[in-house]
Amino acid sequence: MSNAKAKIAVLVSGGGTNLQALLDAQKSGIINSGSIELVISNFKNAYALTRAENAGVEALCITRKSCGGAEGFEKRLIEELDNRGIDLIVLAGFMSILSENFIKHFERRIINIHPSLIPSFCGKGFYGLHVHEAALEKGVKVTGATVHFVNEVPDGGEIIMQKAVEVQEGDTPEVLQKRVMEQAEWIILPASTEKICAEIVASRG
Ligand code: GRF
Repeated sequence: MSNAKAKIAVLVSGGGTNLQALLDAQKSGIINSGSIELVISNFKNAYALTRAENAGVEALCITRKSCGGAEGFEKRLIEELDNRGIDLIVLAGFMSILSENFIKHFERRIINIHPSLIPSFCGKGFYGLHVHEAALEKGVKVTGATVHFVNEVPDGGEIIMQKAVEVQEGDTPEVLQKRVMEQAEWIILPASTEKICAEIVASRG
């Protein structure tokens, strides 16, 4: 039992390119200490669900509406995660704020990818293209991505990995978003996931 891989669940809401990077990393052996057991989307039409199914990973769609609101939604999430003995929850473009109660239940067991170098361009309102719009507006020459533990402060938990990406002359938010994904997010999310899974496996003794 002590050598068993850490069980990973990935929570998504959209296209799932970061999920794809995790699935590819598992296939290529970059992720070796953990195994992706479950993908949960809070949106029905998320392409991430198709990516999970294509990779033969169990995929669930759980919406707030289907659970009668935020409280029921998190209760259902906890049930599904605990029933499968999930060790690590990876938020990969999951567009829903989790409550303190949920975060406490999985303390140091939830990680998130954010498309900037925290503490720049993070916290409330900084999601998706807004992050890159703000970076371009400020005129920074370097941006990047950060993987961090999730705590009760949005984008405020301990930093696990960061990678810098250059801003180029004439960048639009869309062009910059794509570069940050390709050069940073898709690399450090799998690498961080492996790192934390290896620590979880080692901590079992
Ligand atoms: C990424 O930019 C990620 O940093 C942010 O949401 C986006 C998700 O994209 N948290 P995808 O669904 O992984 O393609």
